[in-house]
Amino acid sequence: MSLYTDAAFCRRTTRPPIWMMRQAGRYLPEYRALRDQHGFMTMIQTPELATEITLQPIRRFGFDAAILFSDILTVANGLGCNLAFIEKRGPVIDNPVRCRQDVDGLVTAGLRDRLNYVRQAIKCLKGTLAETPLIGFAGAPFTVSSYMVEGGSSPDLKRVKHLMFNDPDTMDALIDVLVSGTADYLNMQIEAGVDAIQLFDTWAGLLSYPEFQTWVVKPIRAVLNRLRNPAKIPVTVFTKGTAAFWNDISDLPIQVMGIDWQMDIGAIAQLARADLALQGNLDPHMLYAEPDILLNRVDHILRSMADRPGFIFNLGHGIMPDVNPDQVKRVVDRVQSFQNERVHA
Ligand code: CP3
Repeated sequence: MSLYTDAAFCRRTTRPPIWMMRQAGRYLPEYRALRDQHGFMTMIQTPELATEITLQPIRRFGFDAAILFSDILTVANGLGCNLAFIEKRGPVIDNPVRCRQDVDGLVTAGLRDRLNYVRQAIKCLKGTLAETPLIGFAGAPFTVSSYMVEGGSSPDLKRVKHLMFNDPDTMDALIDVLVSGTADYLNMQIEAGVDAIQLFDTWAGLLSYPEFQTWVVKPIRAVLNRLRNPAKIPVTVFTKGTAAFWNDISDLPIQVMGIDWQMDIGAIAQLARADLALQGNLDPHMLYAEPDILLNRVDHILRSMADRPGFIFNLGHGIMPDVNPDQVKRVVDRVQSFQNERVHA
């Protein structure tokens, strides 16, 4: 058993495990060196490259968990959306899903085969990682649908909201395709040997409560119900901007709730069910702060969670590409030298 798994199951640990969302990425010079030679899609579709990039932050910082190097939009791509990652624009889909015909045109048969490169990367990683657990992941149906409908990143999700309000049947059909595709994809990752699963619903916080229930909570529950998880690996759900709705997330059949930086993690720890682990929630922008200010905040989070079994240190969202890796090292070292007993001394 790893520190990460113990914490995910709310077993008492001597210190919290730490990993960071987007821990593999452009802030690392060794990532940029590979990125200069390969397109992003090539990197995620080549198991040897995906393996190497997954391992980079483990080697450099000794994080307590590795996260598979991939993207939440692999499923959209596998369903037939043409996906490209364009410098300074992010993901672009040039054949977005805008009407019922577009949904019906998605290619659901053979999805697993088209995503087989992920299975191979996991196999390769499991042969290489010694003790460090490997986290597999997928985007939750709503956030993935938003990219498929918008055709890329969008500040307000105007088109997807238009679709859900005015043509809920089409939205429902799209979400249905994503529920089965996502469950299938996660089941493949579980079969291939990942030690944990995380679902990302990054844009959930842009919805009002009724839509949040219909398009976020319900589809995530449907995905979770379809998981075949014989080894009972822990499942995390991460959402952003959902402080007011956290109760609905915590009611899901999950082991870990990912907390963004706007929430008071110590307060949630008092209120959440005792068998729910919490993961978070340093503001990623704190990584631009002076080291003493940064470490003060790290200490504050550590202290506020010290008494509660079930805490995984993370950021409240992903690392930005221009962060100095030394700052990440400072945070990792601080968390890994923390001793839970010390707070009682
Ligand atoms: O966390 C990790 O280190 C594992 C790999 C991972 C990536 N993306 C790599 C990536 C994971 C878990 C993701 C999830 C992801 N992808 C999310 C959900 C979490 C979040 O950050 O909100 C979302 C919304 C996406 C979609 C996505 N992929 C966007 C919006 C972008 C462009 C923005 C950006 O940061 O450039 C990507 C590209 C992407 N995914 C990169 C990486 C390392 C950068 C690609 C590059 O090198 O050009």
